[in-house]
Amino acid sequence: MSDTITKFTYQTFQKSKAGFALAHKQISTYLENFIYPNLGLKTKPLSAKVIQKIQQRMDEIIEKDLTDSEKGIYPTNMIFDNPWSDFFSFYLNIWLELPQVWQRVQQKKYQYFSPQINLQGYPNYYLQNFHHQTDGYLSEMSANLYDLQVEILFNGTADAMRRRILAPLKMGLEKLFFGQNLDAIAPQKQRVLDIACGTGRTLKFIRATLQKASIYGVDFSLAYLKKANQLLSEDLGELPYLLQANAENLPFRENYFQGTTCVFTFHELPPMVRQKVLEEAFRVIQPGGVFIICDSIQVCDEPDFASMLENFSARFHEPYYKNYITDNLEERLKKAGFVNITTEVHFVSKYWISYKPNI
Ligand SMILES: C[S@@+](CC[C@H](N)C(=O)[O-])C[C@H]1O[C@@H](n2cnc3c(N)ncnc32)[C@H](O)[C@@H]1O
Repeated sequence: MSDTITKFTYQTFQKSKAGFALAHKQISTYLENFIYPNLGLKTKPLSAKVIQKIQQRMDEIIEKDLTDSEKGIYPTNMIFDNPWSDFFSFYLNIWLELPQVWQRVQQKKYQYFSPQINLQGYPNYYLQNFHHQTDGYLSEMSANLYDLQVEILFNGTADAMRRRILAPLKMGLEKLFFGQNLDAIAPQKQRVLDIACGTGRTLKFIRATLQKASIYGVDFSLAYLKKANQLLSEDLGELPYLLQANAENLPFRENYFQGTTCVFTFHELPPMVRQKVLEEAFRVIQPGGVFIICDSIQVCDEPDFASMLENFSARFHEPYYKNYITDNLEERLKKAGFVNITTEVHFVSKYWISYKPNI
């Protein structure tokens, strides 16, 4: 496809996803207010200036996604990747689940799990109905709905935000290998770990970007790992290794990985656990290796968005988010031992790019 056609097709694709997500949110909010007028999930209205800024940032991330694919950081077909089979198989379930979600919210049940879910071995902070998800992260249906819900939440830009880790990851590895072509490096020498990989969308993008690397994903949720396995099995190339583990205690020896990432997870961890996970990430990365975090923007990044960030914790059950948006992750990274820390902001996500010092 010529660059102009690709650009036009991608922009149209993104606009349709955004339109669909906005319509979904409007209709579900209307129904919620109609059926449960006193549910208490009230949010502050956003000013015209903020809405305009949000739109501008959305346009910018779409432009950045296109540019990075044109530069060859990842294949162009990645920008059109979409969880279509989930959409056709499970979209209706989002609507069917809404009445029980509203009921739980009304009854203030935020840590409710169906009796058949085994809760053994998980810390309390994890046993939450994050974003009012039925059975938290611990059921097959939760794993089937997760990507669709995140796409709706971010107006179709969740993957574009995930893909912003790819350029710094590739650059970090190239630095480590003194600018050598990464396709010429043996898989055992370029190991990449995605911590809290969820349903595997970031792993899919890493797989397409670093074709020779050995790729690993860990997550606490077996249901999400099974979903990731399904997704990753659709693609050619070596399957990433998937392991069920607590990110506070990674099942790998020291200095094992050359690159490590963690996407959309730090805001769901209590402050002390954030520090523990950073320390584990530091332990398993080789000196000179790169670590990239992607998560929500924080208040200091865009004071005008403060109401929007507050709306997020008011509407969704996110017990650690309020602390997260003012937490100094840069200090935490330094405390864990990381150096050369830089940050980037794309749309409503923030990225911390850091390195383990060379000995
Ligand atoms: C918001 S989801 C993000 C998933 C994925 N990274 C993405 O981009 O969508 C948070 C994920 O973190 C996992 N998680 C949370 N705490 C964890 C922990 N202590 N150890 C391992 N996984 C954890 C959850 O099971 C869930 O899959």
